[in-house]
This record gives sequence, structure tokens and C-alpha cells, in this order.
Amino acid sequence: MKSEPFFSRILHGGDYNPEQWPEAVWDEDVSLMQEAHVNVATVPVFGWVHLQPDEDTYRFEWLNHLLDNLHTGGISACLATATASVPAWVEQKYPDVLRVERNGQRRKHGGRHTFCPHSPNFRRLSTALARRLAERYAQHPALTVWHISNEYGNYCYCDLCAEAFQQWLQARYGTLEEVNRRWYTAFWGHTYTDWSQIETPTTNGQTILQGMLVDYDRFQSQSILDCFKAEATVLREVTPDIPITTNLMGAFKPLDYHRWAREMDIVSWDSYPRKGAAPAEIAFAHSLMRGLKEGQPFMLMEQTPSQQNWQPYNALKRPGVMRLWSYQAMAHGADTVMYFQWRRSRGAIEKFHGAVVEHVGTSQPRVFQEVAALGRELESLGTRTIGGRVAARVAILFDWENWWALEYSAGPTIDLKYVPQCQAFFTALHNLHIPTDIVSPEADLSHYDLVIAPVLYMVKPGIAEKLEEFTQRGGTFLTTFFSGIVDETDLVYLGGYPGPLRKLLGIWAEEIDALTPQQTNQVVFDAPYETLTGTHSCHLLCDRIHAEGATILATYGEDFYAGEPAVTVNSFGQGEAYYIATALNPEALQAFLQAICERQDIHSALSDIPAEVEVMPRVSPQGETLLYILNHSTETKTVNLPDEKYRDLLTGETYHGSISIPGYGVCILVKEP
Ligand code: GLA
Ligand code: ZN
Repeated sequence: MKSEPFFSRILHGGDYNPEQWPEAVWDEDVSLMQEAHVNVATVPVFGWVHLQPDEDTYRFEWLNHLLDNLHTGGISACLATATASVPAWVEQKYPDVLRVERNGQRRKHGGRHTFCPHSPNFRRLSTALARRLAERYAQHPALTVWHISNEYGNYCYCDLCAEAFQQWLQARYGTLEEVNRRWYTAFWGHTYTDWSQIETPTTNGQTILQGMLVDYDRFQSQSILDCFKAEATVLREVTPDIPITTNLMGAFKPLDYHRWAREMDIVSWDSYPRKGAAPAEIAFAHSLMRGLKEGQPFMLMEQTPSQQNWQPYNALKRPGVMRLWSYQAMAHGADTVMYFQWRRSRGAIEKFHGAVVEHVGTSQPRVFQEVAALGRELESLGTRTIGGRVAARVAILFDWENWWALEYSAGPTIDLKYVPQCQAFFTALHNLHIPTDIVSPEADLSHYDLVIAPVLYMVKPGIAEKLEEFTQRGGTFLTTFFSGIVDETDLVYLGGYPGPLRKLLGIWAEEIDALTPQQTNQVVFDAPYETLTGTHSCHLLCDRIHAEGATILATYGEDFYAGEPAVTVNSFGQGEAYYIATALNPEALQAFLQAICERQDIHSALSDIPAEVEVMPRVSPQGETLLYILNHSTETKTVNLPDEKYRDLLTGETYHGSISIPGYGVCILVKEP
């Protein structure tokens, strides 16, 4: 396997679907790509039927021609295995390929991602195509990275999957008795007496056994991953030196990306912020993707250069915003800037989705010009930004299985959603300009000083011990209400919440009160930290807790549990473990985290950073700190610098004392010797 960094230049380009266009357009595309300073094209993501119009016929001439042209033009290929869209002939000939939806209905040909992960015909045909492509293009000089399938993600509920699920359960739990125990099937008399009775959990079938639902998510995530692995195995066999990726989607619930990332050489992902998304929300997604491989740089595989078409209202990215968000991705760990797509489709569902080349077909439009200007700028950076790491001392733990289980839970409230809880902590730290990783509870935590586990409802084997050890050695651990409730199959820990975290936190949670969206309670901080005193509102859930050795930092202000602890800290070994028993309002949460960071001497890279300015340090493999400063506002902002000389890599200008950054502007500062 080739070692990191995988790329010798910042890849700039994106999805290119030449199958949609006559060959006459292709030559024009290459010269326009050169004009746009595009150096990579992702082809042919949806090309299966064009490469294999029936089972016995392969057609590679057009792709040969295309790759040759790209290479001659200096453009690399992010080569897709083309298995994302299953041809009509495959689905007609082998109906088992079509997956069954959760409602129990089998799909018909149409759309994409239509395959059942356990269809032997899909496995056979998709890996055969991957092998043909790998063998044919192994030596092609344009081949730079493999792109398997596209945005994997749809579960199947067919009979093949039911059978495979039964086998998966046998392998995992051994006996049917153990499955019954884990899923608590004695409840409502749901005990299974034969393996064959276990069906897929369709909406008209099994919906009440939450342990089973979590297991089905695990099983489907793994099954779809097996499709990825099947193709990856073939590619690795033929082209061991070419890195392999598939494009992920940020906080995408169906797939446990921590498990997926282990099988990928490099993470890539598609960033399509929802309308009105705050910079912190975008940064959260980048950090989640960066954390999948514990900080290894990732590829920004897709972003729209201008607008989407699948939101209700598809606003244009304002002039400068595409550039700003590209650098934001780089600040958070991206080594590539790529778009969906190169040329706007003429027909079908994405004809109004933004592209580098608009329907007018020339380089004249604003969007093309912004892409070209960014491409020029990225070229001028050379390799300086590549391979850098975000040096974070704070980590938020994020766990897909916890996410699934938490949101299957009936009660105590329908308003408790996992991602917003994690985002609340991330946003507070983002506002404090404190670099934060988002990692799996299974990640190496030894280089962090503060580890935050929002709503760690499910505590899997070994995790409590690991968190105890982290704290014992001097780390600060923080968790919240509704944590330490269930084990990995959603069975409640008996003997008092927060179960296995009780000793570490020094508390016992006796009851959990749910508040309506209109209701609040109060949290009264009596003493401790300078940045946080007085009374603050809280919402969502209020655990009624008892300190069992922990110090009480704040108490509830209202209701029958007024005066009882709401925030506690427990000394544990050389470290401390905090428990926040309710959802604090954003200002209070930020002040609280600021206090905790100050105690640990965790600071932002600059001080007095103006509002709407983001500052992120990324350390290059050579040990040089690149300070990305991003102005997310429309107004010029002045940022004060420490008493040293800095140079902006984008303009070459040097600065001392302060720097003024125009609206939507960016600079990448390095210290001058
Ligand atoms: C996804 C897909 C692309 C395209 C874009 C449109 O990211 O990977 O093929 O459909 O959405 O936004
Ligand atoms: Zn299936």
C-alpha cells in the first residue's frame, strides 16, 4: 500500500459524467478543465450500463479514449467502479438484485442504490466489473484513486437478508436462547422458538424489540460494507498501490462509518450543508469525517459549486462562499476540493443542480470563474497544505450504535436526538475556537485532555473501564443526562443509572423528568468557576441525581427537585469527571466549557477573535502550523495577531500586529522566521 500523503497536489475537480454527452463535447471539456485549473475528474460513477450493456458484452473503448484524453490534458482520474446504478438488464434478468424496502415492498428498476447487499447476483456482477476495470486500467497513468460505488446506504428487508441475518445472529450470539435474552423477547410473549421465525424488521412486522432493531442496523451496515469490501479486495489484488475510497455523507445514520473507515484507505465525503447551516454545523461534519480515521486527512469529494436542486429552495452560494467553504474544509482536514459536477446535465432529475460548466457551455459565468480562480490559488499553494493534522486536545465521542439505540428508545422524550446533542457541545467549542476532534469511543484517547461523551446512553463492554483509565491518568471526562443506561443490546443496566459510569461520575441518577418544548427549569451555579455563576435555563430532560462522592457545582432552581444537584464533578485518580444532568442553554454550556478548558489550559490559537471569524490551526507533516482564518460574515473583520511576523500563503503579504480580512475572505498564515 502506498503511504500517506496519497496525493502530490491538491486535487481540484470532481464528478464528470461524459456518458451524458456526445464525444464532440469531451475535447471541449478537457480544455475547459484546464482553463478551470481542474486536475482531477471522477469517472464513470454511473457508467455500468455504458461499460456492460449486457452480461456478455463489455465496452471499454469510450473509457480508454476518455482517460487518455484526461491524462494528456494533465488531469488525474478518480476512477469509479461504476456499480452505484444497477443496469435495467441486470434487474430484469436477476430480480433478487432489487432490494425490499422497510415497508416490505420490492423495488422496481429506477433511481439508484437499488441492490440487496445479499444478492449473490449483485455481488458476482459488481465484483466482475470492478475486476475488469482494475485489470484494464492498472497501468493507466491517470489512475490516482479508486472510488467504489457512490454514497452507499439503503437497507434491504428481503428474504435473502432474513436468512443472512439469522446466520449473523448465530455467529454473534451462538444460541437462540441468547438471542431471546439479549432482545428481551419474553416481553409481550415474543420469544422465538426456531431460528427460521426471525424475519427482517419491516414496518408491518417486528417493531417493538429495540435490541433487535439495533442488531438489524449493525447487520445491514455490515452487509453493505461487505459489498464495498468485495470490490475493494479485487482492486487491492490488482492495484495494491492505488488508494481506495467511497464517498460518505457526514452524519449519515444508516452506516456505522467508524467500521467503514477501517476498510477504506482514505475517507472522502460529500458536503451539502442545509440552507442556513451555521459554520459550526459544517465544521462539525468535517470533524466527524476527519475523526473516522483518527485525524488522517480526507477528501472533499463533492460540494456544489453554486446550488443544489433537492432542497425546497436552492439558493446560490454567494460570490466568495464556495471558496470560503473549500478552505474551511481544508482547515478541518481536507486535502482535496472537488465538486458535483463538472457539466450541468441537460435532462433528468439533476438538470438544475449546480455545476462548474453551466448550460451556456462556456467559461464566462461567475461560477466557472470562481472555480478557476480557486484552482489557480490551490496550484500556487503547492504541497504546503497537504497531509496536515488538526492538533486537537479535546474530543467528542460519537457512536453510531448509541445513535441508533437512543433514537429507537420509546421515552422519556421524543425530542431527544443524538446529533444535535453532539453539535451543541461542538458548537460551544467552535465558538471558543478550540479545535475539537470527533472520534469513536474505541479510538485512542491518550492524546486528549478533555473527552466529552454527550448522551452516552449505550455503554458497550470495555468503554467504562477505558474512560476510568483516561480520567485516572489526569484526563477530564464529561458526560450528560441519559448516559450509562443500556448495554450493547439495549438491555438496561440494573442497580442504578448511570450504570457502569456510576463510580467514575460519583453520582446516582434516580429518575428522569421530560420537559415539553415550552418548558424550562433553572440551573443555579453556586460557586465554582469564574466564567460561570448565577442562574441559567435548561430544557429537554432533567435527571434527578444524588451525589455519591461528587462535588455539586449547580442545583436545579425549580420544581419539586429544586435544590437537588444538576451539575457535578467527581475527582477520580488524577482527573475529574463531570456530569451535566440536563440540557443547558447554549450560552451557559459555552461558559461552562470555557471554564473547564481554562482549568486544563486549553486555549484558542489567537485571542479576541471577532464574531463570525473562524480560526483553525493545522500542523503540516513538517511541523509547520498553518493558521486558517475564515471570515464567515459579509463585513471586513480585523483579527489581532501575537507579536510576531506572519505571512499569508494565499497573497504572499506579511503582517504584524493584525490582519484585516474582507467579507467571506480567507487567509492561511504561517509564522515568518
Ligand atoms: C450526491 C451524489 C451525486 C449527486 C449529488 C447531488 O452527492 O453522490 O451523484 O446526485 O448528490 O447533490
Ligand atoms: Zn436483501
